[in-house]
Amino acid sequence: KEYIGEAQHFTTDNKEALESFRIKFLSKKGILNDLFAVFKTVPNDQKKEFGQTINLLKNTVEEKVKTILESLESKDVQGLYGDLTRPGYPFEIGARHPISLVKNEVISIFSNIGFNVSEGPEIEDDWHNFEALNFPEYHPARDMQDTFFVQTNPEHLLRTHTSSVQVRYMENNKPPLRTISPGRVFRNEAISSRSHCIFHQVEGLYIDKDVSFADLKQTLLYFTKEMFGKSKIRLRPSYFPFTEPSAEVDIYWGLKTETDYRITKGTGWLEIMGCGMVDPNVLTNCGIDPNEYNGFAFGMGIERMAMLLYQISDIRMFYENDVRFLEQFKSNF
Ligand code: PHE
Repeated sequence: KEYIGEAQHFTTDNKEALESFRIKFLSKKGILNDLFAVFKTVPNDQKKEFGQTINLLKNTVEEKVKTILESLESKDVQGLYGDLTRPGYPFEIGARHPISLVKNEVISIFSNIGFNVSEGPEIEDDWHNFEALNFPEYHPARDMQDTFFVQTNPEHLLRTHTSSVQVRYMENNKPPLRTISPGRVFRNEAISSRSHCIFHQVEGLYIDKDVSFADLKQTLLYFTKEMFGKSKIRLRPSYFPFTEPSAEVDIYWGLKTETDYRITKGTGWLEIMGCGMVDPNVLTNCGIDPNEYNGFAFGMGIERMAMLLYQISDIRMFYENDVRFLEQFKSNF
């Protein structure tokens, strides 16, 4: 009974002392084993009480060792990590750049109808940026794309559109093809609130058998509805060397109720992309037989769409990395 009292009062914050306490009572040559040996010699009428007392001692010692060990271990953890119940430090999370937000949205909309994503180099050769796309040498349409040349003879340039990626994709894959090519493009234009010498595009390409202009229009309608809400589009005849016929796509924005449209400020038709049926010459240049296959292509500027959707008035803001601008996109994933 004295031992029980001793065990109950035992306390320590030291692992070695705890271990000697354990050895003293619980080891092979410890007190408890001695008492169990004595137990055998105790007269029968005292056996019950004696047995209960040793069991109580055993439980008390075991319980003690366990609780002290636990508290010592938790102190070790606290020593390493401090108070684990303390509230955490707040930290700032970043935001995705609006160009990435819009790009990811376009990718997801086209992924839903089976388009994959293709990418290519920003420094291109003349073939992939111009020649294969039906811009012959000295063709005036080359002037439409004010090109930055990196090297002459052989010519290397900063791609003026991601149509170059579509050429590479057609050269390396067999139809049917459904791909979109997002990426950075470069044009030697004066920098203003409306235009920049670096911007981003997503171009799309669809090649299969018996593709019609109606397929193109329906695809664009699907896209603009997903992207801008209930929208009206109109196609205006236009010219690109690599598509025939070609059209420019306008979207009508800022109508009726705010919930119908994601674009709410202002009203009117606004051009958002170019498109058309891929010129047979382009297919031939890329190793696809135009008698067997045809298709459509389209291309749009990401900054233009981001400016519309987020009411950004100056394109230069995208490249300044001013945190006051970037922080405003925090809630958007
Ligand atoms: N490549 C054209 C541009 O950069 C856009 C476009 C793509 C037009 C595909 C028609 C078809 O201006």
